[in-house]
Amino acid sequence: MAILVTGGAGYIGSHTCVELQNAGYEVVVLDNLSNSSEKSLERVKAITGKEVKFYKGDILDRDILNRIFANEKIDSCIHFAGLKAVGESVAKPWEYYNNNIAGTLTLVDVMRKNGCKNIIFSSSATVYGDPAQIPITEECPKGQCTNPYGWTKSMLEQVLSDIQKADPEWNVILLRYFNPIGAHKSGTMGENPNGIPNNLMPYVTQVAVGKLKELGVFGNDYDTPDGTGVRDYIHVVDLAVGHVKALKKIEEKAGLCIYNLGTGHGYSVLDIVKNFEEANGLTIPYVIKERRPGDIATCYCDPSKAERELGWKAQYGIREMCEDSWRWQKNNPNGYED
Ligand code: NAD
Ligand code: UFG
Repeated sequence: MAILVTGGAGYIGSHTCVELQNAGYEVVVLDNLSNSSEKSLERVKAITGKEVKFYKGDILDRDILNRIFANEKIDSCIHFAGLKAVGESVAKPWEYYNNNIAGTLTLVDVMRKNGCKNIIFSSSATVYGDPAQIPITEECPKGQCTNPYGWTKSMLEQVLSDIQKADPEWNVILLRYFNPIGAHKSGTMGENPNGIPNNLMPYVTQVAVGKLKELGVFGNDYDTPDGTGVRDYIHVVDLAVGHVKALKKIEEKAGLCIYNLGTGHGYSVLDIVKNFEEANGLTIPYVIKERRPGDIATCYCDPSKAERELGWKAQYGIREMCEDSWRWQKNNPNGYED
């Protein structure tokens, strides 16, 4: 039996392919490479020694989905494919709703018509909006999203939950990721953003490698210990392992389950700068800028439900996240383009 990994050439998807293969699963990837390179899958093979079966195509394309289900014995789907740039989603809402929502509806329809009713969905802490409580548990009510990207995650959680309710043969696991950073220990796989990074860690590593002059810190007047935004950063390999644990849960006939995947620790922007500098013996110049619209002060989770029900707990700390992010950037200054 194989696992269909949509978006498997991307940052989290490629790391998850490694962990799936290491756990003995056969992996089939569908990716349109709109935000990734096929080279990531070559690196997966170099690490695990196993071939990743790759279909280049779109989750909106029923023909290729039907072909995959005809050719492969797909048991479950881990669904990463989606557009994820917050700012771009504000400028291009139709593209985001079409790609993420219509794409997922198409995928799920082809899945059920082929008798495959197991899905793990990449959701996000963004569905909590400005969270009603810290640390955030899964019982915390969903909030108002501040951008179309966030709404696609919130709406798709509802869509998948309703589908499972109407047909209990479905097993649906919604994984709400906090802030994934870090890279595979080998330094051969990592995050590969297009253009100027929107997220903190890739920005920091590009300053460190000399591609960008200095980090802009978005606001130092939040109600946090040092005034800068606090987030729950999680090593991408820990996140990847969380998907393997979620698959085990699916094999036990999970029904509908929701889990936060984070470490439960909050670090500020300046904590990240300091830890990155200490871990790697570098200096990161920064300037304080205005707050970024839509940002919240503090976001970290209570990850104990995932530990109780999946037997999953993050293993890596902030130092390893900083070391591994830097090893990847230093060895691959232009990502997969080198
Ligand atoms: P990524 O952009 O590296 O990976 C997404 C992959 O999906 C890319 O390889 C892209 O080419 C592919 N893709 C996009 N649209 C597609 C389509 N229509 N058909 C086929 N392939 C398509 O992003 P990532 O950071 O690996 O994120 C993976 C998932 O996790 C996304 O759904 C994202 O929204 C979600 N997520 C990410 C974060 C984060 O901070 N990285 C946080 C929370 C949730
Ligand atoms: N930040 C800076 N300077 C930068 C980039 C970010 O100061 O150049 C700050 C932000 O203001 C925030 C923190 O660093 O306080 C983290 O910002 P990121 O952009 O790295 O991450 P966010 O928490 O804003 O959002 C990310 C993803 C979302 C996802 C969310 C929760 O981009 O898609 O994590 O999973 F929804």
